[in-house]
Amino acid sequence: MKPLIVANWKMNPVDSSDAAKLFGRVANEISSQKHIEVVLCPPFPFIFQLIAHEPDIHIGAQDCFWEQEGAFTGEVSPVMLKALGCSHVILGHSERKKYLFETAEMINKKLKAVLQAGLTPVVCIGEHVEQEMKEVLGDVDNTSNIVLVYEPEWAISTSENAPRPATPQDCKEAIEKMRSILDVPILYGGSVVSTNIARFIKEGGASGALVGSASLDAQEFIALVKEADSA
Ligand code: PGA
Repeated sequence: MKPLIVANWKMNPVDSSDAAKLFGRVANEISSQKHIEVVLCPPFPFIFQLIAHEPDIHIGAQDCFWEQEGAFTGEVSPVMLKALGCSHVILGHSERKKYLFETAEMINKKLKAVLQAGLTPVVCIGEHVEQEMKEVLGDVDNTSNIVLVYEPEWAISTSENAPRPATPQDCKEAIEKMRSILDVPILYGGSVVSTNIARFIKEGGASGALVGSASLDAQEFIALVKEADSA
């Protein structure tokens, strides 16, 4: 399987012309990388504009709701994202658990809605790997299209408590445990940069990475993708 790099822009950049610039620079370079799959996940308001601009680049959303339509103020449906041309949706990111109190039950419902809409879910799993996987994946029938992420909260570059990346060994242990429960692509997320991505893939056993901060710097992100491509 080709390594998968998912860029999570989070709530950045604020300005749509900056989003278009970042997207344009990255899209231009990554379209020539044939041995790697890259998915860019911009904030919702930019998705339409960016997909129209460069339809060959895979675009994902950072979240969605668990119903497809109806009276759910402020929410975005998986079928809307599919119709827009999105391919992936990140679910259960640790920031959503922390700031919006997302529970495993909510993530489980979102996961089923995303699969039903024909999108690929990129499901984040934190420190309590077995427990979280059981709760989130429990009653999901068809798990073959799922991508998982080992995303320890303490390793996120913007976390308040002295962030540090997991070591490739930390990553390996968690990923092996996860893979013994469900054998699907498993990414690592937490302070991934161009100088450590290759080790997470080669020594850590990761199928790729979920990249936050480093995906906002075009030059750094392009370097990261090239490193992953040759890892
Ligand atoms: P980071 O974010 O790359 O900025 O650490 C990763 C994540 O939020 O999963």
